[in-house]
This record gives sequence, C-alpha cells and structure tokens, in this order.
Amino acid sequence: MTCYNPTIGAFAGNTDQDAHLLYTLSGIQILAIYDNLSLIDVDKVVSYIRGLQKPDGSFAGDEWGEIDTRFSYCALLSLSILNRLDAVDVDAAVAFVLSCQNFDGGFGCIPGAESHAGQVFCCVGALALADALRRIDAELLGWWLCERQLPCGGFNGRPDKLEDVCYSWWVLASLAMLGKADWVDARKLREFILACQDEEDGGIADRPGDMADIFHTFFGFAGLSLMEEEGFEKIDPAFALAESVVARIGGG
Ligand code: FPP
Ligand code: ZN
Repeated sequence: MTCYNPTIGAFAGNTDQDAHLLYTLSGIQILAIYDNLSLIDVDKVVSYIRGLQKPDGSFAGDEWGEIDTRFSYCALLSLSILNRLDAVDVDAAVAFVLSCQNFDGGFGCIPGAESHAGQVFCCVGALALADALRRIDAELLGWWLCERQLPCGGFNGRPDKLEDVCYSWWVLASLAMLGKADWVDARKLREFILACQDEEDGGIADRPGDMADIFHTFFGFAGLSLMEEEGFEKIDPAFALAESVVARIGGG
C-alpha cells in the first residue's frame, strides 16, 4: 500500500514512484489474492482507469499517453476484478484490440505493429474479458501460436527468436483461452520448464543454465499450472490468478 497513490487512485511500481496502469493491475491482483480490495477506494481507481481511455477505445498507460494493447488488457482486467467493466466503453476497447490483429493472425502493440506472443496474450485476454473472442480468426491465430513451440519444447515470442520460459505463459494461456491448449506438445513444454529450474535455489530461469529470477519462476509455475501439474492449483488464463481467487471475486 506504500505504492498506492490515494489522491489519484492508482499504484506505482515502488514507493514514491509515478503511478501507472501496469502497476495498478498488479496492485489490484495482489489485493484480490489476499482478499484486501477494501483497502482501496474503488470509485477512485475506476475513474483513474476510465480517464485513460481514448476515443478510439485504446488505453494510455499513464498521464504521459503511451498507447499499447498491454494497457487495454491491464484496464479491462483491473475493472473485471473490481466488477466494474461497465465503467468504460467496452465496444470501443474491443474495436481497438481487433484493429491490432495482423495478416498472420497475431497481434501487436498498436495497429500495424509486428505480432508478438506477449501482445497476443494481452489482446486475447482483453477480448476474453470482454466476451468478444468469437470476433477473431482463432484458427489462424492458433496456428501462429503453435508455431512458437521449438524442438526443445519451449516457446519463442515471434519467429526466429530464442525459446524463453515466460512464453510458456503468454502462448499457452492464449491457446487455453481459445480452447486450443491441446494443439501443442505439453509433455515437451513441461520438460523444458523443469530443465530451467536451478537445482540449488529452486528458481526458474528464462532458459536452461541461465540465472533464475522471480519473473520466470512465476511464468514457469503458471505454465505448469495450466498443464495441471500435480501439486499446483489451476490458474485462470484470462485473470492470471488462481481459479479459487477468481471464484471468490465473482469473475470468470
Ligand atoms: C521481450 O520481447 C519481451 C518479453 C519477454 C515480455 C513480453 C510480454 C508482453 C508484451 C506482455 C506483457 C503483459 C502485461 C500484462 C504487462 P523480445 O521479442 O524483445 O525478446 P525475446 O527475443 O527475448 O523474446
Ligand atoms: Zn522471458
């Protein structure tokens, strides 16, 4: 809560830093996990998010105005967790996200920008939350996502790039939302994720032999959870939260 700015109703990445939609989503997700959403003034947060929507339906990340489909997802998921999706123009938000789909079926950060698996996740997530997944060419996108799996079992984020554990989440969660998670080889992906775990400290790195970090540890666990690994609670692919948390907040 030291990162929460009660005057504007938004979170920053650290104490005394500027608020941003990215951290506002993180703050809301963490409060939802701990059942502590009462710590924030929901009306104020909702009006902060509403104030970032542009007439074309896109969202800026903060007062400085950068536009990116990541922020569309952050806005729609934050509002979904708060049960206030109706506070923004959802039809316009969907239209903007759809305008970012490319000829290859993938999505980029703005119209015409290169398809990237991270942006695909954000766009598919935003459309799932807005109940608009039927409006995209899911077969074409499904193929583009499948092509991200490399012989080592891991996924890359776009053609000719290296495999990286974090795409286990961006790609597999996208396929799960499209009902096509079985289009990839889960056994090989599981082996790849486990090969990225540091035998001494238990953390997960982007690829085998690299230094483990908390970011890739989360995405490795999230991928294993989507594949129903024993001992993991199932994660919801659109909310990026455990299904039990999503059920408690009345989402899904
Ligand atoms: C590097 O891409 C970028 C990433 C590994 C993160 C991608 C994830 C997103 C854009 C989604 C973020 C979602 C939210 C909700 C904030 P690169 O292609 O430059 O690097 P690479 O070659 O290592 O894959
Ligand atoms: Zn990564």
